[in-house]
Amino acid sequence: MYIVFLGAPGAGKGTQAVKAGQALKLDHLATGDLFRQVQAQNTNTARLLRSYVEKGQLVPDDITIQTVLEQLNAYTGRGIIFDGFPRNLTQADALDNALAEREESLDKVVYIKVSEKELLSRLSGRWICQKCQTPYHNVTAPPKIQGKCDRCGGKLYQRADDAVETVKKRLDVYFAETAPLIDYYKRSGKLIEIDGEGSVDDVGRRIMDSLKTAGVV
Ligand code: AP5
Repeated sequence: MYIVFLGAPGAGKGTQAVKAGQALKLDHLATGDLFRQVQAQNTNTARLLRSYVEKGQLVPDDITIQTVLEQLNAYTGRGIIFDGFPRNLTQADALDNALAEREESLDKVVYIKVSEKELLSRLSGRWICQKCQTPYHNVTAPPKIQGKCDRCGGKLYQRADDAVETVKKRLDVYFAETAPLIDYYKRSGKLIEIDGEGSVDDVGRRIMDSLKTAGVV
């Protein structure tokens, strides 16, 4: 089973993909997490990725698609939740083609819709685990021990691209390049729109209920 979680920066894709992945026993593939792992290294590729990510721009399609295809080609599990991929029509095409080559296809696209005001508040309070990437929020989802990940004990940090100016740029890029995917997947009958406001548990319940109603799980 293959599901895409689509939404603006801060919509809760990562938070909900982790929960749904555990509930449905699906793997979670987040391009942002993959890129952050590479960026932490002292290599030319890391510097190249940082030059895009820290400005709030998309990493070029050739690098992004190759990164995902490498994971997909080696994949033998029972299904994947894609989080943060695809992010434009070129990437959506590449994903459709790669799945078709495996004689598989995308089951559903969960679009998590959140107002711009809420996105800004979520991103400004976000902390991430350096080790396992679990997101926290200093008001709505604080860790049990300040600065420490509940899941793995890793140290929490704030992402460089969560600085206010970079967030504004990321939102511009989202509306220009990624939002057209909403119509694209609506036309293919795969889109499930979810109200992403309310508690993490409420949003999670809406996602699971919609997937059940759609007959996917
Ligand atoms: P990426 O890491 O994918 O960032 P993003 O899409 O901007 O999304 P975020 O991780 O910011 O938000 P999210 O929706 O996962 O929200 P979260 O669950 O953390 O990408 C980073 C960069 O990498 C991109 O800008 C680009 O440069 C590059 N990149 C990645 N993929 C790419 C691609 N395919 N092509 C090209 N470039 C690519 O939640 C946010 C906060 O809100 C957290 O603090 C959380 O605790 C809190 N929260 C979550 N849900 C709720 C709720 N219901 N109520 C209250 N608070 C909540």
